[in-house]
Amino acid sequence: MMARHFLNLTDAGGDAVAAMLNDALARKQARAAWPKGRPDADAPLAGRVLAMIFEKNSTRTRVSFDMAMRQLGGSAIVMESGSMQLGRGETVADTARVLSRMVDAIMIRTDDHAKIEELAHYATVPVINGLTDQSHPCQIMADLLTVIERGLPLPGLQMAWLGDGNNVLHSLIEAAGLMKFTIRVGGPQGYEPDAGFVARARAAGGEVVLTNDAQEAVRGAQVVVTDCWVSMGQAGGEAQVAAMQPYQVNAALMAGAAPGALFMHCLPAHRGEEVTDAVIDSAASVVWDEAENRIHAQKSVLRWALEQL
Ligand code: CP
Ligand code: NVA
Repeated sequence: MMARHFLNLTDAGGDAVAAMLNDALARKQARAAWPKGRPDADAPLAGRVLAMIFEKNSTRTRVSFDMAMRQLGGSAIVMESGSMQLGRGETVADTARVLSRMVDAIMIRTDDHAKIEELAHYATVPVINGLTDQSHPCQIMADLLTVIERGLPLPGLQMAWLGDGNNVLHSLIEAAGLMKFTIRVGGPQGYEPDAGFVARARAAGGEVVLTNDAQEAVRGAQVVVTDCWVSMGQAGGEAQVAAMQPYQVNAALMAGAAPGALFMHCLPAHRGEEVTDAVIDSAASVVWDEAENRIHAQKSVLRWALEQL
């Protein structure tokens, strides 16, 4: 049987995403105030090992997957691709075959989504997407957990995204389809999200609105989300930064959202660019919960991938 890969949220589907979120919430509550490295009482991944491959920088993804494995009773191996044989020409396929004999699951962060698809094709253990140029599904699992924790049900949720049509937005749009919520995207012409993600989310029952008007995007939004204006590996440059200026999430823009609206950002933030200090440091901001929830959400992704959910 094929291993359960988690390259995009759709690989799991809406029911499994909901089951993972429930599991994450219950596990988080069960270990509240425990030392962070103590395994959960049932240690469900005892004896299991996750290998992580990084082709790009990371703070949250690296630490949260390592802590997730510790809390599940297992362990993790972290590798930079530059120090692996992969970095000097060993093929993705052979790397997949070898790691599949040695570890129980593989997480990779890579520039090229085709590479994770190739890895998953040849791996006989689950492959998990720790960010590609196309998507960032583990981030969105943490984001959905953060929203639910604040008492906001996902179906019918009104969410706004400001800025670049990037990898994080693609997974958020995918989530809108699977969990039936509305996402209004405010961004400059030429930086729209991928049309395929938009079409699939609409077909699945999500509402996706694209606008160039930042105020229109945030009107009535219960959650306002942004991310860096230029992602890792994007050519970007000054033209891209200039085009993004009208979409900065500042106090004036937040004032146009629904009363009590939350601010979210996957981090790292470029303070003074896509978000002002006044917003990210305000009571509306849940970015630190969001970061912590990477651990809790990914524990459930790992359990799903290893067929425990
Ligand atoms: N949000 C996120 O993926 O952070 P890192 O790049 O630090 O892993
Ligand atoms: N869109 C950003 C997310 C970083 C976690 C990037 O790809 O650089």
